[in-house]
Amino acid sequence: MIDPHGPDRADPAARAAWLRATLARHAHAYYVLDDPTIPDADYDRLYRELEQIEAADPALATADSPTRRVGAAPLGQFAPVRHSVPMLSLGNGFSDADVIAFDRRVAQALGEDAPEYAAELKFDGLAINLRYEDGLLVEAATRGDGATGENVTANIRTVQAIPLRLHTPNPPKLLDIRGEVLMFKGDFARMNARQREAGAKEFANPRNAAAGNLRQLDSRITAQRTLRFFAYGIGALEGAPMPPSHTALLDWYGELGVAVCAERAAVRGAQGLLAFFRDIGLRRVALPYEIDGVVYKVNQLAQQARMGFVSRAPRFAIAHKFPAQEATTLVQEIGVQVGRTGAITPVARLAAVTVGGVSVTNATLHNEDEVRRKDIRIGDTVIVRRAGDVIPEVVAFVPELRPADAREFVMPASCPVCGSPIVRGEDEAVARCAGGWVKCAAQRKGGLLHFVSRRAMDIEGLGEQLVDQLVERNLINTAADIYRLGFVALAELDRMADKSAQNVLAAIEKSKSTSLARFVYALGIRHVGEATAKALARHFGNLDALLQADEAALLEVADVGPVVARSILEFLNDALNLELIAQLRALGLAWPETAADRIASALQGKTFVLTGTLPNLSRDDAAALIEAAGGKVAGSVSKKTSYVVAGSDAGSKLAKAEALGVTIIDEMQLKRLLEE
Ligand code: IVH
Repeated sequence: MIDPHGPDRADPAARAAWLRATLARHAHAYYVLDDPTIPDADYDRLYRELEQIEAADPALATADSPTRRVGAAPLGQFAPVRHSVPMLSLGNGFSDADVIAFDRRVAQALGEDAPEYAAELKFDGLAINLRYEDGLLVEAATRGDGATGENVTANIRTVQAIPLRLHTPNPPKLLDIRGEVLMFKGDFARMNARQREAGAKEFANPRNAAAGNLRQLDSRITAQRTLRFFAYGIGALEGAPMPPSHTALLDWYGELGVAVCAERAAVRGAQGLLAFFRDIGLRRVALPYEIDGVVYKVNQLAQQARMGFVSRAPRFAIAHKFPAQEATTLVQEIGVQVGRTGAITPVARLAAVTVGGVSVTNATLHNEDEVRRKDIRIGDTVIVRRAGDVIPEVVAFVPELRPADAREFVMPASCPVCGSPIVRGEDEAVARCAGGWVKCAAQRKGGLLHFVSRRAMDIEGLGEQLVDQLVERNLINTAADIYRLGFVALAELDRMADKSAQNVLAAIEKSKSTSLARFVYALGIRHVGEATAKALARHFGNLDALLQADEAALLEVADVGPVVARSILEFLNDALNLELIAQLRALGLAWPETAADRIASALQGKTFVLTGTLPNLSRDDAAALIEAAGGKVAGSVSKKTSYVVAGSDAGSKLAKAEALGVTIIDEMQLKRLLEE
């Protein structure tokens, strides 16, 4: 680490050089190593000092000064850049068979049994070439048509993950670093939230957002948005030896201060490639950025050279793509679905399209406001997304393809299932069927399916089709009726063998012995999810204590705020619900009961104040996590504040915390506290 104070201010040139190096090192720690070293406020202080020195003597403002990242005056257009080594694309594989065939081709060409590969991620962004001369970033260009790209240097200079000067005393004379510019999911969500607040256009996905920002003629706008970068290739190199392998190349980049992704491995043979693909496939949703597959490259560069290229793609590499998560299709109708709480969800009925490997004909539009905000109409061509196991959703419509007779969605006045009125409370985002579960079969079915679900009563074999039939035939109306089902009633249902009926009855019987948390969750109280149910069970210890709780008692529970407390009380004030609980107990549902347990949770009694923008968590998310762990979140700093959680652009609250000597932590430290 560098000397914390640096050279004397009396020598501005030395001081400026020290500030540049210090700031570059902190940005590197934050954006490349993902391991912040100083609070943002300290960074800002050093940054401002450098700005002042440079303003007093502009000769001290070198090309690699971090103050040169802020963006320059808008360009009329991007100048063309001819790539000295063409930027190629990759051949694609989609199946295990494609990968095995690739490995076979490589093995044959190299005369080796299980060739060595570098396996890495296929980032869903834009390819870029970064030209460094004598260690200094001099030009950045998009891929373009592979031969000629566009000069986007001003925009690229704003990307903190890209060093303006390579971290080495002996830089190569010329080095073309290639890689992908992308936007992280969290930065994308924050940017879209700001766009929404400003009434500006939102971007459909992080890739489009990265493209929009990279090709933004006004680099001052790019500077306000966080783009990231991962290096994965090389173009021209002069004045340094070529590393022997792809692995060594990326390791070298890491030493030069350039961001390389840690998710990479050297593997052998098709089995090694497929194991990497599966491992990444499992962890894909948890990555902070989007990928659309993985890339396999022959690891030894000498072997790469021996294999060469076919038309515009290398023979030594292949992209193994995940099934596309997005597709475009036609909205044939917009209908509604009735949830277990009566919530009415608009659903787009789509012309069948394959997304993420499965056929999709319905996609959620969440709620009425969302339909208006996204301006989705019947007759539109839309982008549909299905990420992992989540419900497919409509992302955006394609303006160029909107027909003149596209129709707007109208919320129906009555429930399509039970005919009761549909109402929407004044402050509510969601319209609801007023029928309740007594009148509305959709709500009954939804409530019952929730009750039997795996995380609730966990009754195996009692799935959607069975519940549908049981409700249609009036065999069950409430959850208590499940425990009154007999063998004959079940065995008479469609497609129900005797053996299956026995299994379902056994599962129902088994579910009677449960936990208080599961039981509370199974009741389906609005706003009481699994975590809240657990908190309630832990806090009250037994059901009667919970049933007798008033608002004040409920608010003592770590996970419960006013909205949740009101919802619980509303549920418990309904005689039908109390009757249901009594019946379920009488039918033999039981769980271990204890005295109320008010053991302090991790952050009990601690008060937090949030300020500035955290790198990953939204403020709401951070507050929810703190409260779930028993802490309180306050709006202003006082001597009683336990911690101030500071992000970038933190203002007066941070200053006040410093003045009062309150402990200041960042997002990472908060996460550590929460884990403890
Ligand atoms: S290597 C000679 N590696 O995919 C090979 N490309 O279809 C040149 N991409 O234009 C590309 N992640 O934008 C390579 N780890 C990775 C990549 C990657 C994403 C993109 C890149 C390129 C396209 C090729």
